[in-house]
Amino acid sequence: MAKLKVAVLISGRGSNLGALIKACAAEGFPAEIRLVLSNRADAAGLEHARRAGIAEGVIAHRDFARREEFDAALDAALLGAGIELVCLAGFMRILGAEFVTRWRDRLVNIHPSLLPAFRGLDTHARALAAGVRIAGCTVHYVRPEMDEGPIIVQAAVPVLPGDDAERLAARVLAAEHRAYPLALRLIAEGRVRVVDERAVIDADGGPAPAILLNPPDGG
Ligand code: GAR
Repeated sequence: MAKLKVAVLISGRGSNLGALIKACAAEGFPAEIRLVLSNRADAAGLEHARRAGIAEGVIAHRDFARREEFDAALDAALLGAGIELVCLAGFMRILGAEFVTRWRDRLVNIHPSLLPAFRGLDTHARALAAGVRIAGCTVHYVRPEMDEGPIIVQAAVPVLPGDDAERLAARVLAAEHRAYPLALRLIAEGRVRVVDERAVIDADGGPAPAILLNPPDGG
C-alpha cells in the first residue's frame, strides 16, 4: 500500500521530528516524511531532516507582513510536495483559521499536557503549580482554537517528588516520542475517524495498560 505522505513543521530542537523520522524508517511503517519546514532558519531540528536526506526548507514568518501570507506560503509548499498529512512538532506559530480549515483532519499537533488541561505555554510549570500527580502529552487534530481538537493519543507519566519543570518536561518528552509515532501509524493505517468532533480509534495494541496510580499503592 502507498505510504502516507507527511510533512513535519518545526520551530526548534526537533526531537519529536527525530522520533517520527526513526519510526518512518522502520520496515513496513505506513507513512513517509516527504518535507520538513521550519519558520526559523536557526531551528536545530532541521539537521535531523538533512541527516535523513529529507527535503527541508525555511519559511520565515518574519518575511511576511501578514499571517495569511505566511500561511499561504506554507500551504503552497505543502501542496507542491503532494503532502497528505501535516504534523506540527514544536511548531510555535499559530496558524490562521483559513489554513487550519483547509487542512482539517489532515493537520495534527503534539502538546505537552493531558488536554484539555494546561493549554498554551509553560505547561510543566503550571502542572507542578497545580499539584497534579499525573502529567503527559496529547496528539490531536488541529482546530482554529489553540490546543483544541479531537484527541488521537495521550500518554501519561507520573509527577515525582523533587520534580522541577525541566525534569518533568524530560519525562513527558520521552512519552511524546512514543505517542507521536503511534498517532501517525494509526492515522496512516486509516484507523482514526472523527465523529462528532471526537476521534474514534480502531486500535490493535492489545488490552489497555493497567491503571497508573500515583503515588503507587505498592500493590
Ligand atoms: C514538545 O514538548 C512539544 O510538545 C511542544 O514543544 C516541544 C518541542 O520539542 N509543543 C508545544 O508546546 C506546542 N504548543 P521538540 O522540538 O524537541 O520536538
